[in-house]
Amino acid sequence: MFGLPRAKKTAAVVAASAAAAATVLLGAPSAAAAPQPIVGGTTTTTTAYPFVMQITDASQNQFCGGTLVSATKVVTAAHCMVGESTSSVRVVGGRTYLNGTNGTVAKVSKIWINPDYTDATNGDDVAVLTLSTSMPYTTASYVSSSDTSVYAAGTTARILGWGTTAENGSSSNQLRTATVPIVADSSCKTSYGSDFVQTDMVCAGYSSGGVDTCQGDSGGPLLIGGVLAGITSWGEGCAEAGYPGVYSRLTTFSSLVTAQVNS
Ligand code: ARG
Repeated sequence: MFGLPRAKKTAAVVAASAAAAATVLLGAPSAAAAPQPIVGGTTTTTTAYPFVMQITDASQNQFCGGTLVSATKVVTAAHCMVGESTSSVRVVGGRTYLNGTNGTVAKVSKIWINPDYTDATNGDDVAVLTLSTSMPYTTASYVSSSDTSVYAAGTTARILGWGTTAENGSSSNQLRTATVPIVADSSCKTSYGSDFVQTDMVCAGYSSGGVDTCQGDSGGPLLIGGVLAGITSWGEGCAEAGYPGVYSRLTTFSSLVTAQVNS
């Protein structure tokens, strides 16, 4: 069932291409995680989640997600920003559909990538963008470094994004959301071995798979109780049984983020 090598390295380059060597999803997921076409979940809007931002190229083609945490600061994944420059990216708010032209487009004046970042599977997968102009949207609050109890196993978390709705599938034109349970660190370690860096990552998903973030969702939010607690980072395939999604553990990076938000 799991033909791909464990912990396929993830890139910010997304969707569209893919194809090839498709590992097929389990044919009969459990009732608890029935696949609807994120993977699983339902459509939603940026009206419902106004702090969810599209990270796009200069032509406004979305390739990652981000979360507005102040009028001019957006939290995203470091791996989304590798190879990017302030002139190559835009942040688009208030645009539910990828093919929309509405909302607010902001240029980026600074890209801060966690200086310790090397690869998503080594952790440190966090970046903060400073916008040249303010976003007129409600911001999300984010966890503080002492909020570590939010990641208790079984806690319901919300994921959001425009990423592919199946492993090797296509992106969703409309923003999607789903809820997934936080997975115990010990269990995630069993899934991913040394690629799971407990201090820097938290896993979420059903053991039977079926609901997950996927390519193109990276950088977007994992919310717990409506508060930004994780950043979509990586996973083995998408929604595979036994391989939950891996998110940056934001409590670990909260102080670093705050330093950027206040800079
Ligand atoms: N790295 C992917 C991206 O760049 C996100 C992958 C999330 N994978 C998962 N199985 N949860 O969009």
